[in-house]
Amino acid sequence: MTDWAKVRGEFPAARRLTYLNAAGGSPVSKHAAREGKRFYDEICARGDTHWKDWLGRVEGVRVKAADLINADPREIAFTSSTSLGMNMIAGILKGKGDVLTMFDEFPSSTFPWLKRRFKVRFVKPKDYAYSSTDIEDAISEKTKIVVTSHVQYRTGFKQDLVGLGRLCKRKRSSTSTGNGSAQSIIPSPAGGA
Ligand SMILES: Cc1ncc(COP(=O)(O)O)c(C=O)c1O
Repeated sequence: MTDWAKVRGEFPAARRLTYLNAAGGSPVSKHAAREGKRFYDEICARGDTHWKDWLGRVEGVRVKAADLINADPREIAFTSSTSLGMNMIAGILKGKGDVLTMFDEFPSSTFPWLKRRFKVRFVKPKDYAYSSTDIEDAISEKTKIVVTSHVQYRTGFKQDLVGLGRLCKRKRSSTSTGNGSAQSIIPSPAGGA
């Protein structure tokens, strides 16, 4: 069982503030702050002589991150933000086909595709929700990329990533997920999706 008091204790900001959603401006945990400080203390005192240690730590974090979202460590890449990650994916997939995404996506999920002149179509929500039938109906022959947040930043709608992943597999499209609003809040079934 999760010891929520212990988890909350890791986030001093939660003593005074109530977070209903946390994304780009999430408070960090004491542990993350300590590790960030350790890195700066090390590089401040001894330059990059800890390099090998740091690489080892990166691989340790990769395994833990994979475990957290039910993925394989080989599927985990580190970027400085969700927006940068989405831009990199859009660059990699340039020329691969059309994009289907959700109407009320956070802009950094859609701008990277629009700016690179992908043909982008949007599924409209009904009662703030996207049904798998509506998404399936919107996937055309030319749709090769489906972009969705796990949790929509404006409405809190939670996408069924496993179901959507299966649908894309059936339709031969790839799914790209911006998880800015879902990180650390709900289990993210990346492996299943
Ligand atoms: C759904 C969603 N995607 C992406 C982002 C952008 O995240 P980042 O600041 O890591 O680029 C946010 C930020 O609030 C978000 O809510």
